[in-house]
Amino acid sequence: MSQCHICHEQIRPFISFGHQPLANAFREKSDSREEYFYEMQVMFCESCKMVQLAKQPDEKKMFHEEYAFYSGTSKRMGDHFSSLAKEFKDNELNDLSDGLLEIGCNDGILLKNFVLEKYRHLGVEPSANVAYVAREKGVQVVESFFNLDTAQKIKKEHGTFKVLFSANVMNHIIYMDDVIEGMNLLLSDGGILVLEDPYLGDIIEKTAYDQFYDEHIYLYSLTSMAHLYGRHGFQLFDVQPQITHGGSMRYYFCREGDRAVHERVSSWMQKEEDLGLYNPTTYDKFRSRCEKSKIDFVNLLTKLKQEGHSIAGYAATAKSTTVTNYCGITSDLISVMYDSTPIKQGRVNPGTHIPVLSDQNFKKDRPDYTVLFAYNHSAEIFEKEAWYKESGGKWIVYVPEVKILS
Ligand code: SAH
Ligand code: TYD
Repeated sequence: MSQCHICHEQIRPFISFGHQPLANAFREKSDSREEYFYEMQVMFCESCKMVQLAKQPDEKKMFHEEYAFYSGTSKRMGDHFSSLAKEFKDNELNDLSDGLLEIGCNDGILLKNFVLEKYRHLGVEPSANVAYVAREKGVQVVESFFNLDTAQKIKKEHGTFKVLFSANVMNHIIYMDDVIEGMNLLLSDGGILVLEDPYLGDIIEKTAYDQFYDEHIYLYSLTSMAHLYGRHGFQLFDVQPQITHGGSMRYYFCREGDRAVHERVSSWMQKEEDLGLYNPTTYDKFRSRCEKSKIDFVNLLTKLKQEGHSIAGYAATAKSTTVTNYCGITSDLISVMYDSTPIKQGRVNPGTHIPVLSDQNFKKDRPDYTVLFAYNHSAEIFEKEAWYKESGGKWIVYVPEVKILS
């Protein structure tokens, strides 16, 4: 048994993904230091409806000056955040001084859109290397983990903000009560919190088990979010589903009573009920589908290999770390992974040590089969690498099911 990180109920994990390394800990092949592993179990709390990892490694192990994820590697994610910036400018930030605070701004993919016109803004980012890139774009950054203590310091120096935003970060932080109190302190009267994260409904429907990794401690639904923020006086007043990261949800919160609640909130909550997100048997079925996916994936790769085909991976994502380690896939099956992030190139992937090469090598090598580990960026990658299919190369995906794309 473990304890729910939110409401402290005793709960039992419904699945173990075995021993997993840190998903973004790409290392030198020659590195002889012991690699960190932990048992990755996932559990569902029937009281607060939170799906969560049973245990999370120390945040300083995950977020530091060599953090391997740079938001700007996807052009389409750049477009996604530019259009959100426009929404904020059009609807919320009536005055340049209103203030926008972003928690986990990474390389400035959103905030760079506010620099030229001199909107008052601030990013909070603990990973020094990506914070540096944001600053190079003119973004103002506090290099720190966001928590109540950081919020108090920010308030003294910068005051409050009309909009607090965070994408793909709130699911990374275990001490959420502290974070929400910090946000409460920094939110101006009448201001809003806008939060965006991979959506549990999509994860369950698509058997996207690779959304579970060390950084993703919480996999949110409307219900678990409304409960968590409701404890701190916040009201979920709107939601907007997003296609990013394989299916995400954008949540809009205000202080209770500040804004009218859109009917989308209750209709999405009903959808969650219909999908069985509050029913433990849903998670038992999910476990069975994960086990089947693992068998199907290993069988397919083994068969192709035995037939003499070459197999590579495209995009050394954090998600791919869960998949390769859960399925026990080493370079015997996937000989190499191609990726556009310089810090990952020339290294090996965490745990199963598949070499990572620059995506420049993809065309030269032209593997017979390529596993698309960033299926969430499939439109962008298929467009960029259209030559691959035209030359007879075959893509393999494993979400929502293992298959060779025709
Ligand atoms: N918002 C970006 C980056 C998401 S990656 C995007 O959507 O693309 C997650 C980011 O959260 C990393 O840059 C990491 O350093 C940062 N992070 C992790 N813990 C944090 C914390 N406690 N406070 C602020 N940022 C944090
Ligand atoms: P993403 O799915 O956003 O990451 P994660 O699972 O790590 O959160 O994918 C980001 C990774 O994909 C990053 O390592 C860069 C790589 N990538 C490419 O190599 N080429 C591309 O065209 C894109 C869009 C991403």
